Amino acid sequence: MIKNDLFLKALKGESVSRPPVWMMRQAGRYLPDFMKLKMEYDFFTRCQTPELAAEITVMPIHQIGTDAAILFSDILVIPQAMGIEVQMKPDFGPFVPNPIRNMQMVANIPPTDAKEALKYVYDAIKLTKQMLNDEVPLIGFAGSPWTILCYVVEGRGSKTFDKAKGFCFENPEAAHLLLQKITDVTIDYLKEKVKAGVDAIQVFDSWGGLLSPKDYQEFSMPYINQITKALKDLTPVIVFGKGCWFALEDYAQTGVSALGVDWTLNADVARKLTDNKITLQGNFDPARLLSPIPKIKSMVKEMIDAFGTDRYIANLGHGILPNIPVDHAKAFVDAVKEYEE
Ligand code: CP3
Repeated sequence: MIKNDLFLKALKGESVSRPPVWMMRQAGRYLPDFMKLKMEYDFFTRCQTPELAAEITVMPIHQIGTDAAILFSDILVIPQAMGIEVQMKPDFGPFVPNPIRNMQMVANIPPTDAKEALKYVYDAIKLTKQMLNDEVPLIGFAGSPWTILCYVVEGRGSKTFDKAKGFCFENPEAAHLLLQKITDVTIDYLKEKVKAGVDAIQVFDSWGGLLSPKDYQEFSMPYINQITKALKDLTPVIVFGKGCWFALEDYAQTGVSALGVDWTLNADVARKLTDNKITLQGNFDPARLLSPIPKIKSMVKEMIDAFGTDRYIANLGHGILPNIPVDHAKAFVDAVKEYEE
């Protein structure tokens, strides 16, 4: 039994005394202790060493006091497991030396044994669960197949991912085969994560909002829905599509436990689109954590007033930025904990 079960209750739609709170990308980026580990070990070493991944995962629980932990890892471990080389270059981000650009390259991706190739992740989960000692639940995650396609086709981060989009529009058959291969591995991977002990999973569709609603229906949503369908009876599923407000209505029908919303959408619109039935998670503008602390606190209160305390998980509308002062991050969490109607 998990002692602090606010997050799990909110996912089930049960009434809570106050909303649970966690922050996307909370395990890393801004914490000084994390920065120290970052100087010593490169990124994928941190991901692949269960002791390091577990230590980073529990940091925000002890230092900021969030109601859930998210495993320190990355969405790009999936293409790596599929045999696609992915590097993380300091001050540059993800880099794929041989990006996927044609059908032949897609066809050549061998079948992946997610159980074997990503064993280090499941080991990190088991160790993290021991370290958490049932204090708070642990979230596992994966990138959406479309967002993974963005990186492996573009070869690097981008504001527009136009090479990735061009690939889909010029070679839809190859794009769909690639998306399906990623989906199959992701499903096996998430099932193993549940077996290893995660209490919920989140799918990050960070680049879904780059697609038009119609293209989203073709290249992103069907694959996320396959993942939801395969996982929803095993664990609560949260889908976060950055910029994907147009998809909320459809996602609300798919058996997800919660939907993430970013800060470009007001709570009442998000509630209307989901017919007031689904737990929503979000949507504080991460840059707003740069405001003075009293302003952060009043804005958090306004946010909870707007979403309501039930069927709501307080969070940012995207990942925390690296330049957020720790006391500002903590003020955000404290403001949720202090909430009174
Ligand atoms: O809360 C957490 O931080 C848990 C771990 C986590 C990381 N990446 C660690 C990380 C999670 C949940 C992710 C998800 C992720 N990774 C996403 C989806 C969420 C989002 O922010 O949209 C995406 C798109 C990626 C891909 C990725 N990984 C990029 C673009 C970068 C470089 C820029 C950046 O965000 O810092 C990474 C590197 C990365 N992943 C870092 C961390 C802590 C920073 C690099 C480092 O620590 O050396």
